[in-house]
Amino acid sequence: MSTRRAPHPSTLCARGPEPAVSTSRPLVPPLELSVVYCPADLDHVDALSDGLAPGFIYARDGHPNAAQLAEKMARLEGGEAALVCASGMGAIAAAFLSLLSQGDQALISAGVYGRTMALASRQLPRWGIGHIVFDPADPAAARSLLTPNTRLIYVETLSNPLLRVADLDALGTLAQEAGIPLIVDNTFAPVICRPLEHGASLVVHSVTKMIGGHSDLTLGVLVGARRHVEEARTVASTLGQTGNPFESWMALRGLATLNLRMSRASATALELARRLATHTAVARVSYPLLPSHPDFARAARLLAGGGGSIVTIDLTTRARAEAFIRGLASIPFAPSLGDVQTTLSHPATTSHRGQDDGLLARQGLTAGTVRISVGLEDPDDLWREFQAALDALERESEPPAHRRRRDEPASTLGTSS
Ligand SMILES: Cc1ncc(COP(=O)(O)O)c(C=O)c1O
Repeated sequence: MSTRRAPHPSTLCARGPEPAVSTSRPLVPPLELSVVYCPADLDHVDALSDGLAPGFIYARDGHPNAAQLAEKMARLEGGEAALVCASGMGAIAAAFLSLLSQGDQALISAGVYGRTMALASRQLPRWGIGHIVFDPADPAAARSLLTPNTRLIYVETLSNPLLRVADLDALGTLAQEAGIPLIVDNTFAPVICRPLEHGASLVVHSVTKMIGGHSDLTLGVLVGARRHVEEARTVASTLGQTGNPFESWMALRGLATLNLRMSRASATALELARRLATHTAVARVSYPLLPSHPDFARAARLLAGGGGSIVTIDLTTRARAEAFIRGLASIPFAPSLGDVQTTLSHPATTSHRGQDDGLLARQGLTAGTVRISVGLEDPDDLWREFQAALDALERESEPPAHRRRRDEPASTLGTSS
């Protein structure tokens, strides 16, 4: 009689299943949620920890879905390695904190994403790290701002929301001469620009945006030389900034269609920008591949395969912006970008919130600036909706200041003499 006793149901339930055996491999990457991986023995722990054997031990330090996403992003950007972080800000913070120490300084482009500037101006000083702001359109002036303590230069490929195009080659040369890394936030220009080919040492992305592409995940990535990426990995893992399996897996799905989405959205954005520029309700259209854009020549040189999915228009006043946003009932007002559907944002109340009219004006913005993140809809459908909203704006509200006659008052409503 066998002495082997069947395990108690609680034991059966608690134990993990045997790995499913298959002589064929799955077509799509499996989602691997395990927090921990089981080394065969202590020598195996040593080998995994010292990087002598491939594999994972603890998900915060690395897991298969992040490794797959990182590998694809590294190839897309032409870098040696990549690190997946919990958000775009996680990637930017990991880059800064791995490269800067007490007493160091960062040279940061004016007009970068608000939270990036807040990281530099409010958080980094708590580590004794300073920063200086430079005009990205004037790399010569940036040179004069370098100090012996400057340890990195940071810029966005396309600025938000006016899509000024950074002179990456000049900044890359400047960084190289100074022996410091140039970090480029390429969130607005995945696929169409490869900053590592223009002198950048590190590229960061908010994967949340165009790469994820469906507004259903929050992740970031940092790409570049293996040495930089590994230093950032140590910081990110220690501070708990690394990305999780589910969102990495979702981002891999997004990445599968990134090129298609980017080229379609860019083509529609260019067409929409051209048509918007002909409408009398619009005071100004910003799109890098419109000849009227101040950086058109640089954009044509730097961007390949399109000008990106963002178009920004100036409707001159908050009231007109509001009427336009309300009038476009089928286009959601959603202060993000990069979704499959077209969305609208209002920089003065979202990304540039808290800045008075003077500060907005110095950046070329008004309370009437509206940012459009162009999606995958039919371009003619989109234009019909935009045209109807702009026509209604013309009928219902006062004309924009640029079309007002000199002797005509701005408004006759509520004025006191
Ligand atoms: C240009 C740019 N960089 C970085 C970020 C931060 O990304 P995340 O929201 O994924 O942290 C954003 C977010 O809007 C962004 O627009």
